Amino acid sequence: AEVLKIAVAGLGTVGAGVVSLLQKNGDLIAQRCGRHVTVTAVSARDKAKDRGCDLTGMTWFDDAVTMAREADCDLFVEQIGGSEGIAKEACEAALSSGKHVVTANKALLAVHGTALARLAEENGVSLNYEAAVAGGIPIIKAMREGLAGNRINSVQGILNGTCNYILTTMRETGRAYADVLAEAQALGYAEADPSFDVDGVDAAHKLAILAALAFGREVDFDGVHIEGISRIAAVDIQYAEELGFRVKLLGMAEAHDDGVMQRVHPVLVKGDAPIAAVEGVFNGVVMEGDAVGTSVLEGRGAGAGPTASAVVGDIMDIAAGRFVPVFGVPVSALQPAASLSMDRR
Ligand code: HSE
Repeated sequence: AEVLKIAVAGLGTVGAGVVSLLQKNGDLIAQRCGRHVTVTAVSARDKAKDRGCDLTGMTWFDDAVTMAREADCDLFVEQIGGSEGIAKEACEAALSSGKHVVTANKALLAVHGTALARLAEENGVSLNYEAAVAGGIPIIKAMREGLAGNRINSVQGILNGTCNYILTTMRETGRAYADVLAEAQALGYAEADPSFDVDGVDAAHKLAILAALAFGREVDFDGVHIEGISRIAAVDIQYAEELGFRVKLLGMAEAHDDGVMQRVHPVLVKGDAPIAAVEGVFNGVVMEGDAVGTSVLEGRGAGAGPTASAVVGDIMDIAAGRFVPVFGVPVSALQPAASLSMDRR
C-alpha cells in the first residue's frame, strides 16, 4: 500500500514526542498497519528551536491553517491546543479538504466536538482524539468499541494528571500547593495556562467528551458543574487521611431519565476504593455498564510519552483503514444535550 503522509502542527512536548515515536518505532508501525507512515510537513512558531527530533525532509510551514489546506498529506495532526483560533481553523480546513484529523485537543472537542464530527462525516474522513482524554489510557477505544454493547450508566474518574500529581505530592510530603504546581509544570504535565488544570476546566473538557460518548448525546461542556483544587491546603489532605479518605479531583457523569449530570469537583474518596490508589500523574476511569458491570482503567494521564502513544495509535487506525464514527454513532443519531443542574440533587 502507499505511504500515509502526515502533517504535524505544533511541535511542543507532545508534537515533538509524536514525531520522535513515529521515527523510533517506524518499522513496527509499518508492519502493524501494512504501510509506512511518513511526516511530510510540520508547522510551529519557532523554526530554529531544537526539539530533539529529526525534521529533515519535512516541509516547514509558518502557518498551520495554510499547511492544513495545502500540504501534501492524507492526515493532519493537531497539537496546537485551545478551543478557538488557529487550532480550530486548521482542523476545519483539514477536514474540509478531505484530510483525516488526529488531535489531542480536549478543549476544542469539548466546545466544538459535535460540529467537527459533522464536518468529518460530511467529508468522509476520520477525526480521532484518543490523546484528548486520559493520555495513556485507551479510554475512547474502550468506550466506543470494547464496551459498545453496553448501556453505560455512569463514568467517573481522575482526568487531570497535574491535579492528581499535586494532590498526591502534597499528601506524601506536606509541601505547599504552589510549589508542587511549579514542579508539575516543569515535568511537562500542565496546560500552557495551568489555571485550566487547577480550576477543573481541563477535567471538565475531558468529562464532556466522555459523557457524549457514553450516553450518545451531543457534547455539552457548558453543562458541566466545575470546581477546582486551588483552595485545598496540605492540612486538609492530612486530616482527610487521618479519617481514612483521600482527596481526589473527580469528573463524574451519570445518565438519568431526564438528562445527564456532569460535574467536576474535589471528592473525599475512601482509602480502599480503587480510585484512591490512582496516584501521581496517573489517571483512572471507572465505568458502569449494564453487561460488563464495573470496569476500572488506569494509566499515565499527561506527559509526552503517554500522549504520543495515543496519537500514534490513532494515526495507525487511519493508516490501516479502521474507521469508527467520531462519537460512536452518526452525528444525526446523537441525542440533544440535556444537562441537569446540580440544584436538582
Ligand atoms: N494538563 C493535562 C493534565 C495534560 O495534567 O492532565 C493531559 O491532558
